[in-house]
Amino acid sequence: MAFYLVTGGAGFIGSHMVEALRARGDRVRVADSLVTGKRENLAHIDDVEFLQGDLADEAFARRAVEGVEYVLHQAAIPSVPRSVEDPLSSNRANIDATLSLLVAARDAGVRRVVYAGSSSAYGNSATLPKHEEMPTAPLSPYALQKLVGEQYMQMFTTLYGLSTVTIRYFNVFGPRQDPSSAYSGVLSLFIRFLVEGRSPTIHGDGEQTRDFTYVANVVDGALRASVAPDEASGQVINVATGRRISLNDVYRTLKGITGATVDPVYGPPRVGDVRDSLADISKASRLLGYTPIVHLEEGLRRTYEWFASTRVGA
Ligand code: UD1
Repeated sequence: MAFYLVTGGAGFIGSHMVEALRARGDRVRVADSLVTGKRENLAHIDDVEFLQGDLADEAFARRAVEGVEYVLHQAAIPSVPRSVEDPLSSNRANIDATLSLLVAARDAGVRRVVYAGSSSAYGNSATLPKHEEMPTAPLSPYALQKLVGEQYMQMFTTLYGLSTVTIRYFNVFGPRQDPSSAYSGVLSLFIRFLVEGRSPTIHGDGEQTRDFTYVANVVDGALRASVAPDEASGQVINVATGRRISLNDVYRTLKGITGATVDPVYGPPRVGDVRDSLADISKASRLLGYTPIVHLEEGLRRTYEWFASTRVGA
């Protein structure tokens, strides 16, 4: 039994990590500010120690890491558009908190920190698939902040010998993703609208593509990263599916799964959108023994079932 801290453990991805760790019997502490996370995301999981606070506060960060062996650092304010509107608060959550956590983890002798990086680091480069050696080109405060976090991880490995691994996520979706804002992940919005029998909006022609990754895959990738051999330390690793699909096609697939008949409404393209995104996952395979375990259609089905079962009034 190992002792894990999951920062942002009351959020979408973090809560799935907590669930997986408890299912295999590990000890889990969650540190979450509850700015975007929700206590109810953890309500179904037993024996989780919960600390509420802001990791940018040094004393809180030290309390959070006390005694832990591994840190899965998922806490962030994860929206590109929100960071464009309010770069200061996302900077504090995404950079100040990360640095404060790293200092605390270094001083507490944590064995490894696994960091949630983002495919937004690749920006709008035309090359596909995106591999980790490509130059980065952040286009938003969020993308830049996530990249600074990665570089702090690597620097702490080089300067202080703290073992770190960055996992770059690509368009993760699944149960408990919050569909409540126009900035939410597109699949949570599509599915919520279909459950409610309403037409979602597709920005642009719908031919943009994404490497949509069901949440169980990134959980698996992160847990592997926490115990992977030293070779992985200081590395940045894509964790995705290595396949891409257009919004039009994923919408068609969802219609098939849900039996919905509503068609989407097409609106103007979203400013700053990346046209195509696809991960090269060979590094994850080599260093982590990672391979996607839940494929797109099965992930969509599970996500739809969850949204349908939790619909208010259902
Ligand atoms: C980006 C980042 C991702 C990051 C995420 C956080 C890239 C490739 N990905 O995701 O790493 O974690 O931001 O916010 O940079 N859309 C619609 N209708 C809607 C909502 C969205 O058509 O109602 C479209 C968007 O215009 C976009 C696509 O769906 O073309 C995906 O959008 P979204 O789910 O917001 O994710 P990304 O912007 O790709």
